[in-house]
Amino acid sequence: MQLENRKALVTGAAGGIGQAIVARLQAEGAIVAASDLDLAASAANLLIPGDLRDTGFADGLAKAAYDALGGLDIVVNNAGIITRGAITETTDDDLVRTMAINFDAPFRICRAAIPLLEANGGGAIVNTSSCWGVHPGPAHPLYCASKAAVASLTQCLARDHAHQKIRVNAVCPLEVDTPMLRTGFEVRGLNPDTAIADLDKSVPLGRIAQPEDIADVVLFLASDASRYMCGSLVEVTGGKAVY
Ligand SMILES: NC(=O)c1ccc[n+]([C@@H]2O[C@H](COP(=O)([O-])OP(=O)(O)OC[C@H]3O[C@@H](n4cnc5c(N)ncnc54)[C@H](O)[C@@H]3O)[C@@H](O)[C@H]2O)c1
Repeated sequence: MQLENRKALVTGAAGGIGQAIVARLQAEGAIVAASDLDLAASAANLLIPGDLRDTGFADGLAKAAYDALGGLDIVVNNAGIITRGAITETTDDDLVRTMAINFDAPFRICRAAIPLLEANGGGAIVNTSSCWGVHPGPAHPLYCASKAAVASLTQCLARDHAHQKIRVNAVCPLEVDTPMLRTGFEVRGLNPDTAIADLDKSVPLGRIAQPEDIADVVLFLASDASRYMCGSLVEVTGGKAVY
């Protein structure tokens, strides 16, 4: 058991990747507090529902998990939304909502979690950026910029808080078979199964990622197996380049 009795907070825990992360961490012995808007789909040990756009909720989430779990060793900032379209199609509401969920919430959660992790003798933060936060993906400038901000935050916090034995890293997936990807195809009038089968052909490994492919990397970054990794942006691509 790589995470025996470690206490973990996972956001976006009811989503495609989030459910897989909760399952992987729990299978390795972690006690997991899950947070999301609606946690009906979560099998986590503890549920902390709420909206990350609520700044009071985001500010208090790490402490709520710490109090309920009796400590905190691991924080996984996985919640996120994708906002599509060129900048000229992007509204003020898109801008505020996307940055609130994709950047402000991880910022607030990290800010509150770092003293709690330090009090526990150290810990690991795993943020979810994206390959599109490291390389510019097409026609999603707001999403890409929000994920680039998460990537930068990850590297800055890793540098600033390593001396407190807090490792901060990010997982950067490319295309993963989750509701986020499937709804994008539906919006464009495509059949998600057919569209994913087509997308599989563009990946050198022969398929896009399943949530478990990403959850295994999160598990690695949360565990002592990655003990010398601090500030890494780990791209998980199946060999496919963004461009
Ligand atoms: N699916 C992909 O291809 C892909 C690629 C790269 C990065 N990512 C990133 O992986 C992470 C997980 O994405 P996913 O594919 O599992 O998507 P998903 O839509 O299945 O899950 C995202 C979860 O975040 C939660 N969430 C959204 N807004 C919230 C809010 N205001 N408050 C609380 N929770 C909120 C949703 O309820 C949902 O359960 C995201 O950060 C996403 O940007 C996904």
